[in-house]
Amino acid sequence: MSENSNLKISTRGVNVFYGEKQAIRDVSIDIATEHVTAFIGPSGCGKSTFLRTLNRMNDTIAGCRIEGEIKLDGEDIYSSGMDVVQLRARVGMVFQKPNPFPKSIYENVAYGPRIHGLAATKADMDAIVEKSLRRAGLWDEVKDRLADAGTALSGGQQQRLCIARAIAVSPEVILMDEPCSALDPIATARIEELIDELKGRYAIVIVTHSMQQAARVSQRTAFFHLGSMVEYGETSTIFTNPREERTKDYITGRYG
Ligand SMILES: Nc1ncnc2c1ncn2[C@@H]1O[C@H](COP(=O)(O)OP(=O)(O)OP(=O)(O)O)[C@@H](O)[C@H]1O
Ligand SMILES: [Mg+2]
Repeated sequence: MSENSNLKISTRGVNVFYGEKQAIRDVSIDIATEHVTAFIGPSGCGKSTFLRTLNRMNDTIAGCRIEGEIKLDGEDIYSSGMDVVQLRARVGMVFQKPNPFPKSIYENVAYGPRIHGLAATKADMDAIVEKSLRRAGLWDEVKDRLADAGTALSGGQQQRLCIARAIAVSPEVILMDEPCSALDPIATARIEELIDELKGRYAIVIVTHSMQQAARVSQRTAFFHLGSMVEYGETSTIFTNPREERTKDYITGRYG
């Protein structure tokens, strides 16, 4: 990446092991803010594993070990001084399957701001909840039913609720692991529009199996294969004029 002013995350020589097995090999990547970066590649190539290293979600997996360097705004996120709870607020995550808490719509969004002490009063909290739901494109659909269970929403609405929940703690980066794979095409289009709107404020990293989706929503694409990052560049270049034979094979559907 030539422009360094919008550098958000940089990794150097990252290896990830599950026990003896190496899942990620020597991955170095620079991720920019105000961009959408897509991770693509065949099943089992390590996309989710690498994504999880970016906010230390791998810490929760027994036997998982990480080598190399991962910096957020120049700060090593694996240093002993790093507050992991704080880190995961700065680098939020949205999962494949929408996973609202078994609480009200309001409480799903208010939970993070409350534990991080972001609202002094009920009015402050109401404002954060409304702003987050608006930004996630869900406010108009739920404003009259904020006390209803989050789990009572449709799948697409639940996923937007999970995005609102991530936004509520003012993250800098949002990691999304196949956020649309459980959704129908209309709900998927809605999330894709939302990603496009959100990219002006956050660095967004999305794992997707859909090359059409990667081409639609991302500005940069990284292609992974067998634990290595084979190629990384402008999305348009990766899809029209890739440098590597393996990338070409994947995007033309020869494997995966
Ligand atoms: N918790 C775990 N324990 C042991 N091995 C794991 C664990 N999670 C993933 N792996 C292994 O690490 C490798 C990479 O898996 P990962 O889930 O990161 O791939 P992926 O690219 O996200 O695949 P998919 O597209 O199917 O989601 C695979 O060989 C997988 O079996
Ligand atoms: Mg995965």
